[in-house]
Amino acid sequence: MSGTVIVGGGQAGFQVAASLREAGYADPVVLLGDEPGLPYQRPPLSKAYLAGKTDAEGLNLRPASYLAEHRILHRPETRAARIERDARRLILADGESLGYDHLVLATGARNRALPVPGADFAGVRQLRGLADADHLKEALAAAERVVVVGAGFIGLEFAAVAAARGLAVTVVEAAARPMARAVSAETGAFFTAAHAGWGVRFVFGAGVEAILGEAGRATGIRLAGGTELRADLVLVGIGVVPNAELAAEAGLAVADGIRVDATLSTDDPAISALGDCARFPSPFAQGLTPDGSVRIESVQNAIDQARCVAGRLAGRPAAYGAVPWFWSDQGRHKLQIAGLSGADDASVPRGSGDAFSVFRFRNGTLRAVESVNRAGDHMIARRLLAAGTPLSPEQAADPGFDLKALASARA
Ligand code: APR
Repeated sequence: MSGTVIVGGGQAGFQVAASLREAGYADPVVLLGDEPGLPYQRPPLSKAYLAGKTDAEGLNLRPASYLAEHRILHRPETRAARIERDARRLILADGESLGYDHLVLATGARNRALPVPGADFAGVRQLRGLADADHLKEALAAAERVVVVGAGFIGLEFAAVAAARGLAVTVVEAAARPMARAVSAETGAFFTAAHAGWGVRFVFGAGVEAILGEAGRATGIRLAGGTELRADLVLVGIGVVPNAELAAEAGLAVADGIRVDATLSTDDPAISALGDCARFPSPFAQGLTPDGSVRIESVQNAIDQARCVAGRLAGRPAAYGAVPWFWSDQGRHKLQIAGLSGADDASVPRGSGDAFSVFRFRNGTLRAVESVNRAGDHMIARRLLAAGTPLSPEQAADPGFDLKALASARA
């Protein structure tokens, strides 16, 4: 049958299929996913879905009729086992062989496991897919004391939902502050205080030594140093590992993600990779990582990269250069991030109280903007970063300086 075979039915894989049809691609499109059901959105799993504000159907990216109308052959609960590059064939876990003209790897990432004794006890959970969220919802209904390991996006979003239900929540974080991978100390401090206001306790700089349990059920955790915290539910959110094994076993370059070029092609021109599983050169990562390449875990990245790959397969190749952006909802606060920053970047705050932005500069150049309850700043930041419009730290700090006019003038 050939055409394009997409491995991974998440946001990135689904969007490649949809964008191929939008771009006029006429050959067969097969979308393989290892989960049951239709492709769905993950971000609400740790937010509205967990809080019971939306149901599973509300998560679907499109109804089944959309897939049929667009001739996207979706195969759920289907795992790819091996790529035979010379023959351009994908071998599935059950032995079936699918020929391809082009193969798209949108295999995503999986949760990093906590490497301590007791991590397999009942009551120790992670959150990645819908099935995880369903288990967690059930566990939350029965829990009293919750320990969250990792004050990243998943950990904090989960902590906010659990605290809102009146549970006793303690967040244990290895680093000295929350979300250190992605945001400034200033933004981190705001969220620490906000969560504390909702009753969440924090232990920073903490190593987990063991999950404690009785009869196979978690009863708490022990920190390095011996402190014990009681818990009937432990949520582990300590980051992800890209699913790059399929690519590596096929001899493609892999280094914290499947290596792709600026057009998101692997070293095999018949194979592309995108989304959470792919490491690509980004103009926004220059000076941030040793070789200017980056792997980004976000909906924006999945969608924009999918359009880039689909465009190339439909005959319009282009380098990927979209401004990275991201959001996180925690309690009543909305965090939005545009651009990419490093831990050493200077922070310039604008605004105060519950509504502010932190502009991040490196060598005097704007690299990222973190906005808390300031959607206007976020939208402006995306435009400034996209156009490379110069902005000085003094202008960013000056509440009288018209950022909107600056963004519009250069647009
Ligand atoms: N003990 C405690 N904390 C740890 C440990 C550990 N052993 N190991 C890592 N951490 C902390 C990190 O310091 C970091 O603050 O866990 C946090 C992980 O945060 P993220 O990297 O943001 O990962 P996570 O919250 O798991 O989110 C996973 O879901 O929403 C998406 O974009 C998000 O793609 C990301 C994914």
